[in-house]
Amino acid sequence: MSEPLRIALAGLGTVGGGVIRLIEANASLIARRAGRPIQITAISARNRSKDRGVDLSGYAWEDDMVILGERPDVDVVVELVGGADGPALALARTTFEAGKALVTANKAMIAHHGLELSAKAEAAKVAFKFEAAVAGGIPVIKGLKEGAAANEIKRVYGILNGTCNYILSTMEDTGRDFADVLAEAQAKGYAESDPTFDIDGIDAAHKLSILSAIAFGTAVDFKGVTATGIRRVLAADIAQADALGYYIRLIGMAEPEVDAQGNHRLFQRVHPHLVHRDHPLAHVDGATNAVVAEGNFVGRLLFQGAGAGDGPTASAVVADLIDIARGDIGAPFSIPAAELTQAAPAESGHRTGKAYLRFTVADRPGTLAEIAAAMRDAGVSIESLIQKGRVEVNGEERVLVALVTHEGPESGIAEALRLLEGSPSLAEPPLVMPLLEE
Ligand SMILES: NC(=O)c1ccc[n+]([C@@H]2O[C@H](COP(=O)([O-])OP(=O)(O)OC[C@H]3O[C@@H](n4cnc5c(N)ncnc54)[C@H](OP(=O)(O)O)[C@@H]3O)[C@@H](O)[C@H]2O)c1
Repeated sequence: MSEPLRIALAGLGTVGGGVIRLIEANASLIARRAGRPIQITAISARNRSKDRGVDLSGYAWEDDMVILGERPDVDVVVELVGGADGPALALARTTFEAGKALVTANKAMIAHHGLELSAKAEAAKVAFKFEAAVAGGIPVIKGLKEGAAANEIKRVYGILNGTCNYILSTMEDTGRDFADVLAEAQAKGYAESDPTFDIDGIDAAHKLSILSAIAFGTAVDFKGVTATGIRRVLAADIAQADALGYYIRLIGMAEPEVDAQGNHRLFQRVHPHLVHRDHPLAHVDGATNAVVAEGNFVGRLLFQGAGAGDGPTASAVVADLIDIARGDIGAPFSIPAAELTQAAPAESGHRTGKAYLRFTVADRPGTLAEIAAAMRDAGVSIESLIQKGRVEVNGEERVLVALVTHEGPESGIAEALRLLEGSPSLAEPPLVMPLLEE
C-alpha cells in the first residue's frame, strides 16, 4: 500500500471529534478504499487540556492552528473551527500558499471567501473540498459535481437548516408557538444560545449560495441571497396550512435566469413556504435536511439525510479525504473559479405561483373588505379566504385573516401590500409564504 495521507485537524469539537472517531473506527476499510491509510499527524484547538473522550497523545499539538498549514509532515489540513473570517480564513490561505490541500465544513467561510480560496487552491494545484459544508452528511455536492455532472441543472432547492426544520415540525406536532419551541430546543441543545444564524435563514443562505455555484456554474454570491427566517410563523399559520393540505418548511431555492436584455441573473431566496403534502419535502421532519435538484436529462433528484451531528458530518469530511487520497483534485466548484459566470441577483416580481398571505388585523368592521379591495386593485385573485376569528398570539389576543391567492406574479402581491401599508386595520406587516406544489 502507498504512503499514508497525512492530515492535520484544526478544531476538535463536535465535528473534529467525530472525524477522529471515524478515522480510528474505520481505518482499515478507509485505507482499502482510498488505496492508502489516512493518518492524523497534528491537531489544534483552543483548550489543550479539555477532555475530548479520545486519546490525542499520538498527535502533535499546535497552539496556533495557522501553523498546521506550514508543517512539513502534513499533506491536507482539515479546518473544523468555523467562522467566515478570523483564524479559519488565515489557516485556509496559509494552507494553499504552502501548497497543501484543504478540507472544511465551514459554510460561512466558503459563502464569503469561496471564490478567492478556490482560485488559490487552483493556482497551487491542490484540492479544496467542502462536502460537509452543505447539508452535513448528505453527499449533495458530490451528487451534483459527479452524478449529475452531465446535466444542465434548472433549479435547486431544499431544506437546508435542521434547527428550523426541527422547530417547524415540532410546532406542527404539538400546536405550540415558535418562541416556546425555540426555548425548549435551546434547553435541549438542538438550537444555539444565539440562534440568529439558524432561525433568520442565514445559515441556509450560506449553504444555498454554495449549492448555486456548483449547480449553475455561477460565482458564489451570498449577498445575492434574500433570506427570511421562521420567527414570524405562528402555530395558527401551521394549522391553516394543514387545513389546506400543506406543511410549512423553510426552503432555500435557487434558479438561474436570463433577463429580457439577455443578461444572466440568479434567483436565490431562503423563505418559509407552504409545501404541498404530496411533495417529498413536506415529509422531511425533525433535524433532517433534503435537497432537490432538477436536471434536464436526469429529472428530479432528491438527496435526504442528516444535515448535522458529529457522525454524519464526519462522514462527509472523511469522504473528501478519501477522494484526495485517491488523487482527485478537480475544480472546487466544478468549473475553474475564473470561468464561473457572474450573474446579478434576479428580481422576484415576475415569478409566478400561488401564495399564502396572513394578516393580523384589528377586530372591526370593514377590515376584510379593505384587504379584498387592495387585492383587487393590485390584480391579485383570491382562491380561498379563511377568517379564523380571535386567536391568542404569544399571549396577546389577535384576529387573523389568512388567504391563498390564485397563480399570479409576485409583483401583484407586493403591490397589494404596498396599498395596505400604514393601514390602521393591520396590527403588523402581513406574512407572505409562497406555495410549493408537487
Ligand atoms: N456541528 C455540526 O453538526 C456541523 C455540521 C456541518 C458543518 N459544521 C461546521 O463545522 C465547523 C465546526 O463545527 P462544530 O460544531 O464542530 O464546532 P464546535 O463544536 O464549536 O468546535 C469548534 C472547535 O474549534 C476550536 N476552536 C475555536 N476557536 C479556535 C481557535 N481560535 N484556534 C483553534 N481552535 C479553535 C474549538 O476549540 P475548543 O474545543 O478547545 O474550545 C473547538 O474544538 C463549523 O464551521 C460548522 O459550521 C458543523
